[in-house]
Amino acid sequence: MTTPQGTRHADGGGSRGMFRTKTVEQSIQDTEEPEHALKKSLSALDLTVFGVGVIIGTGIFVLTGKIAKETAGPAVALAFVVAGLVCALAALCYAEFASTVPVAGSAYTFAYASLGELPAWIIGWDLILEMALGCAVVAVGWSGYVRSLMDTAGLHLPDVLTGTHDGKFGFDILACLLVLLLTGILIAGMKLSSRVSAVVVALKVSVVLIVIIVGAFFITGSNYDPFIPPSQAVEAGNDITSPLIQLLFGWAPTNFGVMGIFTAAAVVFFAFIGFDIVATAAEETRNPQRDVPRGILGSLLICTLLYVLVSIVVTGMQKYTELSTDAPLADAFKSVGHPFWAGLISFGAAVGLTTVCLILLMGQTRVFFAMSRDGLLPKPFSAVHPRFGTPYRSTILLGVIVAVVAGFTSIDELAELVNIGTLFAFVVVAIGVVILRKRRPDLPRSFRTPLVPLVPILSVAASLWLMLNLPAETWLRFGIWMVLGVVIYFAYGRRHSRLGKHMPPRTPTVD
Ligand code: ALA
Repeated sequence: MTTPQGTRHADGGGSRGMFRTKTVEQSIQDTEEPEHALKKSLSALDLTVFGVGVIIGTGIFVLTGKIAKETAGPAVALAFVVAGLVCALAALCYAEFASTVPVAGSAYTFAYASLGELPAWIIGWDLILEMALGCAVVAVGWSGYVRSLMDTAGLHLPDVLTGTHDGKFGFDILACLLVLLLTGILIAGMKLSSRVSAVVVALKVSVVLIVIIVGAFFITGSNYDPFIPPSQAVEAGNDITSPLIQLLFGWAPTNFGVMGIFTAAAVVFFAFIGFDIVATAAEETRNPQRDVPRGILGSLLICTLLYVLVSIVVTGMQKYTELSTDAPLADAFKSVGHPFWAGLISFGAAVGLTTVCLILLMGQTRVFFAMSRDGLLPKPFSAVHPRFGTPYRSTILLGVIVAVVAGFTSIDELAELVNIGTLFAFVVVAIGVVILRKRRPDLPRSFRTPLVPLVPILSVAASLWLMLNLPAETWLRFGIWMVLGVVIYFAYGRRHSRLGKHMPPRTPTVD
């Protein structure tokens, strides 16, 4: 580093207010304090496995069918391309940030070093929404696949223990137990969980490849006709459920058609969530400067390719109007008379979704940990376990909350809420890249976003575009969550901030 560690810079570190920034050097130094140090044990391959492990999940295994059937038809493949492009732009920004500020906390840490404390808090609060609810959503998807396998084996859970369905209240016991089990694994240590996930990821990718390769033999060309179904007016009803963009411009809400591809992209975007979480493990990486960008971009590329191929194959195997919404990949094989493959796919999906949950849970505890270490959340949550070297208190707290939420939630609306939160984080990160380039051009950057500021600007525009394609009610819920976060910041974080306490006393002004 070119500057002594811990020195506050004139880059904003001198500001006492809510836009005070933490220097990059200070962020890195914090991770080196023994009582707050996480073990550095991950390689680029571990990170890619992490990435693929968390990216491929409910999005491709569950949402593909619903979106093809109700919003985009076979053009769901194009929706994956659109969502993939938005993520690629964001990934180019994330990679620069992660290679410059390689500490736990992802976009939260990045924002703290560039935009200031309040924006950082907002991002951290937003990431908790993304990962906690994302983990709950995936746990519920997992439980659906497990129940379908159990049903095949003749084992049936009482309805009341299968979650809330069609307005009938219930508790999803399987989803809840999964989250509690994964919480235990995370407390026991990073390396253990990354080994377990490596095996599971291999199985999950194999299942996806089976869908593509075996499924290709059962494609019927006429199923692609029409590839982009003509747009259909949505029945007039509750306006708040329409994409915000349609309400803003007074367009009549429609499904399918070209606009349907963008509506679909805003939902299947969920399938890509996770590549940003690779950045949250930067602090636990042996060579973050080199390996984090490789891990992020590598896993994103692999997943985009697989998604496009899977959706092309599945909509070719079965007419989009007939796809199932619960287990579309497995059911497409049933529809062509191959229950064996269907069973295998269900099994792989159930196992694969486990790692998605695990990594979302881990990413979220690391953000919480980083926020607590900075004093924005109560201090005890940033102590690491003396033996395991993991942030066990934040893991226990969040694990229990997510387990309860997973017990009571249904997938659809929560996925949209997760998406808006993630896209919002993308916007902040892209802006942060430009600001940090201006404020700290001296910092070593092993990965530089190309064509700054063009790529960050395109990333902001693309993320905002997808956000506008989400329902107005999703915006409303997101707004409520963020307002709650700002209230908590002013009631607690602002006064307890470690950065605020270390600031030199303000020089009295003389009239
Ligand atoms: N991308 C992850 C999934 O599809 C969150 O489940």
